[in-house]
Amino acid sequence: MPELCGIELATPVINASGTYDAIAARQAFGDALLEDFPFAAFVSKTITPEPRAGNPPRRIWETPAGMINSIGLPNKGLEGFLAEDLPRLAELPVPLIVSVMATTREDFARCIERVARRREVAAIELNISCPNVHSGLIVGENPSETEALLDALRPLTEKPLIVKLTPNTADPASVAAGAERGGADAVSLINTLKGTAIDPVTGAPALGNGYGGLSGPAVRPVALEQLRSVRARVELPIVGMGGISSGADAAEFLALGAAVVAVGTESFRDPRAGSRIATELESSLLSERSAEPVLDLD
Ligand SMILES: Cc1cc2nc3c(=O)[nH]c(=O)nc-3n(C[C@H](O)[C@H](O)[C@H](O)COP(=O)(O)O)c2cc1C
Repeated sequence: MPELCGIELATPVINASGTYDAIAARQAFGDALLEDFPFAAFVSKTITPEPRAGNPPRRIWETPAGMINSIGLPNKGLEGFLAEDLPRLAELPVPLIVSVMATTREDFARCIERVARRREVAAIELNISCPNVHSGLIVGENPSETEALLDALRPLTEKPLIVKLTPNTADPASVAAGAERGGADAVSLINTLKGTAIDPVTGAPALGNGYGGLSGPAVRPVALEQLRSVRARVELPIVGMGGISSGADAAEFLALGAAVVAVGTESFRDPRAGSRIATELESSLLSERSAEPVLDLD
């Protein structure tokens, strides 16, 4: 059975943070969703210490084989999430991973302490694509910032800490190594690649924020290369993601050493993508096995 940091999973396919609203999906599909949930674990949208309204519209722009989003992490904040969303997410029939982000170590620590105390939470994902307000550096672009953050957070919980790496840096493998030195239990990659677009009608930036993050099939070769370089550098289990839309895509990530895969943008097109990809993956792995020579000629 697939597993991630000791958490048993029915399949190796989970969701990518921020791309599947399980609470809205349950409202739309009813309790039938619980009987046939598309993912083997659920990763929450990233929560921040205080509520955030998110970025001004337009927030999504379609590109060839992908999309750019500048959602800007709208969320209810730590306390709103714990009071309102966590009890509902805990009703899902799969382990719950909560994604958190903050701009100071103290705020990160507060989030970890409050979230880790809840029995319903199986693991915590640290979204480190954010500035440290004290140093001004983007934590996830910097190995020593990442290591120092983990040094501060690691003693706060025994729950698995998964570090979500940003691809917007020259050497993500060094950042992964920093996370490993600081005591992370796993890394996940890739987050979105910085991108922008111009509205052809107005000639102005298409996104309200001016730029956003590219995801979808267009980023898959980048994700695979970053996975390969991170795999070569650290021993930690890896959650691989970036442009997975079929079982064959998922098999590429597993072939490069990902322990599990996550599906993001594809869920916007097909809300059942997680289950479909898990089924396709099973048959693609089976057909690989049956392609092996049956006779041992030695
Ligand atoms: C609309 C949207 C919202 C996202 N929100 C988050 C988020 O809240 N936290 C996070 O760590 N990643 C977020 N991501 C990044 C995804 O989790 C994933 O890393 C990325 O999209 C690459 O996977 P994909 O190509 O399968 O979508 C978001 C991506 C999209 C498209």
